[in-house]
Amino acid sequence: MTLIAELERTAAGFTAALADAASVAEAESLRNAVLGRKGELAVLMSRLPELPADERPAFGKAANAAKERLNRLLEERLASFKAEADGASLSRFDPSMPGRMPERGSLHPVTLVMEEICRILNNLGFETVDGPEAETDFHNFEALNFPKDHPARDMQDTLFLGDGLLMRTHTSPMQVRAMLERKKPPVAVIAPGKVYRRDYDVTHSPMFHQVEGLLVDDAVSLAHLRGVLTHLLCELFGPDVALRFRPSFFPFTEPSVEVDMSCVICRGSGRKSGEDACRVCKGTGWLEILGAGMVDPAVFAAVGFDPSCTGFAFGLGVERVAMLKYGIDDLRLFFENDLRFLGRFVK
Ligand code: PHE
Repeated sequence: MTLIAELERTAAGFTAALADAASVAEAESLRNAVLGRKGELAVLMSRLPELPADERPAFGKAANAAKERLNRLLEERLASFKAEADGASLSRFDPSMPGRMPERGSLHPVTLVMEEICRILNNLGFETVDGPEAETDFHNFEALNFPKDHPARDMQDTLFLGDGLLMRTHTSPMQVRAMLERKKPPVAVIAPGKVYRRDYDVTHSPMFHQVEGLLVDDAVSLAHLRGVLTHLLCELFGPDVALRFRPSFFPFTEPSVEVDMSCVICRGSGRKSGEDACRVCKGTGWLEILGAGMVDPAVFAAVGFDPSCTGFAFGLGVERVAMLKYGIDDLRLFFENDLRFLGRFVK
């Protein structure tokens, strides 16, 4: 058989097989066998030197034309497979089926609670301020009346970064920054943000969030502090919440108080369902919720304010508030990024 006859036979065989191909895969394997780099057509073309020199150009032309034609047929067949598939899926389309809603993100519960706390305090006139998490020893300790080597520093062990920097252990350094910036009273600020300590269990995490509050003005008293905190906690937990101040100690406030609120689970009774002691407040009826006090004159002196100024400060743990608000008993849930948990706080 002449080369040209073999070429025609190959082309005819390809066309017939393509018409019979039942799938994209079959058509593709035909492409490999005939049109591929080592396919039948390539083999025929490599036999060109067998021909007398004057027949070679005609054969070369015929072979190229055949290759182009077969390629076009193949593309057409593939396109028709695709059209069939599209048609089939269209006929399976049921417009009466309920739609699939796109998944929506939501704010983290800690963010939600922090924003709510800030909103309540902003409404009272406190301005939100922001500052660094990598803080100087001066702002975090020294200016807040923690002398070097004072045992009060022990409670606030943290990550030390060198060069006198540390991860702030509380938001109280923002009191120092706010007063240094304003230079004189009045100052009414809140500072939400992350803080760091060496702690880890079901109620403590090495990173957590606080909101700091500071008011410095004429004749500010403990009564103003009580009024602001009562308003804040009633807005957060409901109008029946009662507050209790217990004497405490912070180097930067004098007097210092630990603020308790009536237990939001047993409503202050200490009992749950009959005679069982309430587990959340351990039967006391009270929950420790934040630290506060009157700004110590030593802090005013450190920031260049008149030490006879008056002011109050408070610092509250956001996770603690969120746990009580949402009835969550393991703080670690906040940081595990489990969508089943986080998805429950869609506003
Ligand atoms: N900074 C204190 C703490 O983290 C809380 C606090 C803030 C206490 C302001 C008094 C005044 O424990």
